Amino acid sequence: MSSLSVVVHQDADAFGAAVAREIADLVLSAQKPVVLGLATGSTPIPVYKHLVALLQGQGDLSHVHTFNLDEYEGLAPDNEQSYRYFMHEHLFRHLSIPPSQIHFPGGAGDYDAQIAAAGGIDIQVLLVIVVCCFHFCSSQLLGIGVNGHIGFNEPGSEAGSRTRRVELSEETRRANARFFGGDVGATPSHAITMGVATIAAARRVVLGATGAGKAEIMARLLGAGAGPYTPELPASVLLRHAGCVFHLDAAAAAQLKK
Ligand code: F6R
Repeated sequence: MSSLSVVVHQDADAFGAAVAREIADLVLSAQKPVVLGLATGSTPIPVYKHLVALLQGQGDLSHVHTFNLDEYEGLAPDNEQSYRYFMHEHLFRHLSIPPSQIHFPGGAGDYDAQIAAAGGIDIQVLLVIVVCCFHFCSSQLLGIGVNGHIGFNEPGSEAGSRTRRVELSEETRRANARFFGGDVGATPSHAITMGVATIAAARRVVLGATGAGKAEIMARLLGAGAGPYTPELPASVLLRHAGCVFHLDAAAAAQLKK
Protein backbone atom coordinates (compact mmCIF):
# COMPACT_ATOMS: atom_id res chain seq x y z
CA MET A 1 0.00 0.00 0.00
CA SER A 2 2.98 2.27 -0.60
CA SER A 3 1.03 4.91 -2.54
CA LEU A 4 -1.68 5.20 0.11
CA SER A 5 -1.44 7.62 2.99
CA VAL A 6 -2.27 5.78 6.24
CA VAL A 7 -1.87 7.21 9.76
CA VAL A 8 -2.31 4.90 12.78
CA HIS A 9 -3.16 6.46 16.14
CA GLN A 10 -2.87 4.80 19.54
CA ASP A 11 -6.61 4.88 20.26
CA ALA A 12 -9.87 6.56 19.29
CA ASP A 13 -9.22 9.58 21.49
CA ALA A 14 -5.79 10.20 19.93
CA PHE A 15 -7.43 9.80 16.52
CA GLY A 16 -10.09 12.35 17.47
CA ALA A 17 -7.52 14.82 18.76
CA ALA A 18 -5.41 14.64 15.59
CA VAL A 19 -8.30 15.00 13.19
CA ALA A 20 -9.87 17.80 15.20
CA ARG A 21 -6.54 19.68 15.21
CA GLU A 22 -6.39 19.37 11.43
CA ILE A 23 -9.90 20.76 11.01
CA ALA A 24 -9.41 23.51 13.60
CA ASP A 25 -6.16 24.63 11.94
CA LEU A 26 -7.98 24.87 8.64
CA VAL A 27 -10.87 26.83 10.12
CA LEU A 28 -8.72 29.20 12.18
CA SER A 29 -6.15 29.94 9.46
CA ALA A 30 -8.63 30.39 6.60
CA GLN A 31 -8.70 33.71 4.81
CA LYS A 32 -11.71 32.57 2.78
CA PRO A 33 -14.87 30.53 3.39
CA VAL A 34 -14.26 26.98 4.61
CA VAL A 35 -16.52 24.12 3.47
CA LEU A 36 -16.56 21.11 5.78
CA GLY A 37 -18.10 17.78 4.81
CA LEU A 38 -19.22 16.07 8.01
CA ALA A 39 -20.20 12.56 9.11
CA THR A 40 -22.24 11.09 11.95
CA GLY A 41 -22.04 7.73 13.73
CA SER A 42 -19.76 6.54 16.52
CA THR A 43 -16.46 7.25 14.78
CA PRO A 44 -16.59 11.07 14.67
CA ILE A 45 -17.69 11.53 18.29
CA PRO A 46 -14.12 11.98 19.65
CA VAL A 47 -13.35 14.29 16.73
CA TYR A 48 -16.28 16.56 17.60
CA LYS A 49 -15.41 16.47 21.31
CA HIS A 50 -11.91 17.78 20.59
CA LEU A 51 -13.13 20.17 17.89
CA VAL A 52 -15.57 21.82 20.28
CA ALA A 53 -12.73 22.30 22.81
CA LEU A 54 -10.51 23.83 20.13
CA LEU A 55 -13.09 26.11 18.50
CA GLN A 56 -15.40 27.11 21.33
CA GLY A 57 -14.82 30.74 22.23
CA GLN A 58 -12.61 31.28 19.18
CA GLY A 59 -14.88 34.05 17.95
CA ASP A 60 -16.06 34.44 14.42
CA LEU A 61 -17.02 31.24 12.57
CA SER A 62 -19.13 33.08 10.01
CA HIS A 63 -16.84 31.81 7.22
CA VAL A 64 -17.63 28.13 7.96
CA HIS A 65 -20.10 26.19 5.79
CA THR A 66 -21.01 22.56 6.50
CA PHE A 67 -22.54 19.79 4.39
CA ASN A 68 -23.45 16.54 6.11
CA LEU A 69 -23.09 13.28 4.24
CA ASP A 70 -26.48 11.77 4.83
CA GLU A 71 -29.76 11.68 6.73
CA TYR A 72 -32.34 9.00 7.42
CA GLU A 73 -35.66 9.29 5.63
CA GLY A 74 -38.71 9.86 7.76
CA LEU A 75 -37.11 11.13 10.98
CA ALA A 76 -37.97 14.66 12.14
CA PRO A 77 -35.02 16.92 13.06
CA ASP A 78 -35.98 16.67 16.75
CA ASN A 79 -35.97 12.86 16.66
CA GLU A 80 -32.97 11.85 18.79
CA GLN A 81 -31.83 9.35 16.13
CA SER A 82 -31.89 11.84 13.27
CA TYR A 83 -28.51 13.01 12.03
CA ARG A 84 -29.64 16.64 12.41
CA TYR A 85 -30.18 15.99 16.12
CA PHE A 86 -26.81 14.19 16.41
CA MET A 87 -24.93 17.07 14.82
CA HIS A 88 -26.75 19.66 16.92
CA GLU A 89 -25.88 17.79 20.13
CA HIS A 90 -22.26 16.98 19.33
CA LEU A 91 -21.17 20.07 17.40
CA PHE A 92 -23.50 22.81 16.24
CA ARG A 93 -25.03 23.83 19.58
CA HIS A 94 -21.51 24.49 20.90
CA LEU A 95 -20.27 26.62 17.99
CA SER A 96 -21.41 29.86 16.36
CA ILE A 97 -21.66 28.62 12.77
CA PRO A 98 -24.53 30.55 11.11
CA PRO A 99 -27.54 28.16 10.88
CA SER A 100 -28.14 29.17 7.25
CA GLN A 101 -24.69 27.73 6.40
CA ILE A 102 -25.43 24.29 7.89
CA HIS A 103 -26.72 21.84 5.25
CA PHE A 104 -28.23 18.33 5.25
CA PRO A 105 -29.34 16.31 2.22
CA GLY A 106 -33.06 15.87 1.78
CA GLY A 107 -34.01 19.53 2.08
CA ALA A 108 -35.18 21.79 -0.71
CA GLY A 109 -33.09 22.05 -3.86
CA ASP A 110 -30.26 20.09 -5.47
CA TYR A 111 -27.66 19.19 -2.83
CA ASP A 112 -24.79 18.72 -5.28
CA ALA A 113 -25.57 22.13 -6.80
CA GLN A 114 -25.55 23.70 -3.34
CA ILE A 115 -22.13 22.16 -2.61
CA ALA A 116 -20.83 23.47 -5.92
CA ALA A 117 -22.26 26.92 -5.22
CA ALA A 118 -20.38 26.98 -1.90
CA GLY A 119 -17.15 26.39 -3.83
CA GLY A 120 -16.94 22.61 -3.53
CA ILE A 121 -15.80 20.47 -0.63
CA ASP A 122 -12.13 21.03 -0.19
CA ILE A 123 -11.74 18.25 2.27
CA GLN A 124 -14.06 15.35 2.72
CA VAL A 125 -13.62 13.68 6.02
CA LEU A 126 -14.96 10.17 5.91
CA LEU A 127 -14.23 10.19 9.10
CA VAL A 128 -12.31 13.35 8.75
CA ILE A 129 -10.93 15.55 6.18
CA VAL A 130 -9.75 18.94 5.22
CA VAL A 131 -9.65 20.51 1.84
CA CYS A 132 -8.43 23.73 0.34
CA CYS A 133 -9.44 25.00 -3.05
CA PHE A 134 -9.24 28.14 -5.12
CA HIS A 135 -12.09 30.04 -3.51
CA PHE A 136 -12.87 27.92 -0.49
CA CYS A 137 -11.27 25.65 2.02
CA SER A 138 -13.21 22.61 3.13
CA SER A 139 -13.00 19.46 5.09
CA GLN A 140 -15.02 16.28 4.72
CA LEU A 141 -15.15 13.77 7.54
CA LEU A 142 -16.16 10.17 6.70
CA GLY A 143 -16.63 6.90 8.57
CA ILE A 144 -16.83 3.50 6.92
CA GLY A 145 -19.48 0.81 7.29
CA VAL A 146 -18.53 -2.77 8.08
CA ASN A 147 -19.65 -3.56 4.52
CA GLY A 148 -17.42 -0.83 3.05
CA HIS A 149 -20.12 1.81 2.57
CA ILE A 150 -19.26 5.50 2.72
CA GLY A 151 -22.11 7.85 3.47
CA PHE A 152 -24.99 5.50 2.73
CA ASN A 153 -23.54 4.37 -0.59
CA GLU A 154 -24.06 0.66 -0.14
CA PRO A 155 -22.26 -2.10 -2.11
CA GLY A 156 -23.35 -1.85 -5.74
CA SER A 157 -23.27 1.96 -5.84
CA GLU A 158 -22.13 3.47 -9.12
CA ALA A 159 -18.89 5.48 -9.27
CA GLY A 160 -20.82 8.34 -10.91
CA SER A 161 -23.62 8.47 -8.32
CA ARG A 162 -24.70 11.81 -6.87
CA THR A 163 -26.85 12.78 -3.89
CA ARG A 164 -29.96 10.59 -3.96
CA ARG A 165 -32.48 8.48 -2.04
CA VAL A 166 -31.17 4.99 -1.28
CA GLU A 167 -32.40 1.78 0.34
CA LEU A 168 -30.24 0.66 3.27
CA SER A 169 -28.82 -2.85 3.18
CA GLU A 170 -29.83 -5.44 5.78
CA GLU A 171 -26.25 -5.38 7.09
CA THR A 172 -26.34 -1.62 7.64
CA ARG A 173 -29.76 -1.78 9.29
CA ARG A 174 -28.52 -4.52 11.62
CA ALA A 175 -25.40 -2.49 12.46
CA ASN A 176 -27.44 0.67 13.14
CA ALA A 177 -30.21 -1.09 15.09
CA ARG A 178 -28.12 -0.41 18.21
CA PHE A 179 -29.41 3.17 18.01
CA PHE A 180 -33.05 2.00 17.71
CA GLY A 181 -33.31 -0.19 20.78
CA GLY A 182 -31.76 -3.14 18.94
CA ASP A 183 -34.86 -3.39 16.73
CA VAL A 184 -33.95 -3.78 13.03
CA GLY A 185 -37.62 -3.25 12.13
CA ALA A 186 -37.56 0.17 13.81
CA THR A 187 -34.37 1.17 11.97
CA PRO A 188 -35.09 3.33 8.91
CA SER A 189 -35.03 1.46 5.60
CA HIS A 190 -34.16 4.47 3.42
CA ALA A 191 -31.92 7.52 3.55
CA ILE A 192 -30.65 10.43 1.45
CA THR A 193 -26.89 10.32 0.87
CA MET A 194 -24.19 12.19 -0.98
CA GLY A 195 -23.14 9.98 -3.89
CA VAL A 196 -19.80 8.30 -4.53
CA ALA A 197 -18.93 10.99 -7.09
CA THR A 198 -20.07 13.76 -4.74
CA ILE A 199 -17.66 12.49 -2.08
CA ALA A 200 -14.82 11.86 -4.52
CA ALA A 201 -15.08 15.44 -5.78
CA ALA A 202 -13.73 16.77 -2.47
CA ARG A 203 -10.25 18.10 -2.93
CA ARG A 204 -9.06 16.38 0.20
CA VAL A 205 -10.56 13.46 2.10
CA VAL A 206 -9.94 11.93 5.50
CA LEU A 207 -11.41 8.52 6.13
CA GLY A 208 -11.47 7.51 9.79
CA ALA A 209 -11.91 4.03 11.24
CA THR A 210 -11.65 3.04 14.90
CA GLY A 211 -12.18 -0.14 16.90
CA ALA A 212 -11.68 -3.85 16.29
CA GLY A 213 -14.97 -4.05 14.39
CA LYS A 214 -13.38 -2.12 11.50
CA ALA A 215 -10.16 -4.19 11.32
CA GLU A 216 -11.45 -6.64 8.70
CA ILE A 217 -12.93 -4.05 6.32
CA MET A 218 -9.82 -1.84 6.57
CA ALA A 219 -7.56 -4.81 5.75
CA ARG A 220 -9.84 -5.62 2.79
CA LEU A 221 -9.84 -1.99 1.63
CA LEU A 222 -6.16 -1.19 2.06
CA GLY A 223 -4.74 -4.67 1.46
CA ALA A 224 -4.85 -4.42 -2.32
CA GLY A 225 -3.20 -0.99 -2.45
CA ALA A 226 -4.24 1.68 -4.96
CA GLY A 227 -6.61 0.17 -7.50
CA PRO A 228 -9.76 0.69 -9.57
CA TYR A 229 -13.21 1.45 -8.18
CA THR A 230 -15.07 -1.68 -7.16
CA PRO A 231 -18.86 -1.15 -6.73
CA GLU A 232 -18.94 -3.98 -4.15
CA LEU A 233 -16.64 -1.84 -1.96
CA PRO A 234 -17.75 1.81 -2.28
CA ALA A 235 -14.85 3.08 -0.12
CA SER A 236 -12.52 1.83 -2.87
CA VAL A 237 -13.16 5.12 -4.69
CA LEU A 238 -10.72 6.63 -2.17
CA LEU A 239 -7.87 4.33 -3.22
CA ARG A 240 -7.33 6.50 -6.29
CA HIS A 241 -8.00 9.83 -4.59
CA ALA A 242 -4.74 11.76 -4.44
CA GLY A 243 -5.94 13.84 -1.49
CA CYS A 244 -7.17 11.04 0.79
CA VAL A 245 -5.58 10.17 4.13
CA PHE A 246 -6.77 7.08 6.05
CA HIS A 247 -6.74 7.67 9.82
CA LEU A 248 -7.04 4.49 11.91
CA ASP A 249 -6.61 3.61 15.54
CA ALA A 250 -4.46 0.63 16.50
CA ALA A 251 -7.47 -1.69 16.82
CA ALA A 252 -8.77 -0.89 13.32
CA ALA A 253 -5.23 -1.28 11.92
CA ALA A 254 -4.63 -4.66 13.60
CA GLN A 255 -5.14 -6.75 10.45
CA LEU A 256 -3.12 -4.56 8.08
CA LYS A 257 -0.04 -6.24 6.64
CA LYS A 258 3.19 -4.72 7.99
C1 F6R B 1 -22.57 8.49 8.85
C2 F6R B 1 -22.27 7.70 7.66
C3 F6R B 1 -21.91 6.25 7.76
C4 F6R B 1 -21.00 5.93 8.93
C5 F6R B 1 -20.65 4.45 8.95
C6 F6R B 1 -19.81 4.11 10.17
O1 F6R B 1 -22.88 9.83 8.51
O2 F6R B 1 -22.32 8.21 6.59
O3 F6R B 1 -21.29 5.86 6.55
O4 F6R B 1 -19.83 6.69 8.83
O5 F6R B 1 -21.81 3.68 8.96
O6 F6R B 1 -20.57 4.33 11.33
P1 F6R B 1 -19.89 4.24 12.75
O7 F6R B 1 -18.93 5.39 12.84
O8 F6R B 1 -21.03 4.40 13.73
O9 F6R B 1 -19.21 2.92 12.82
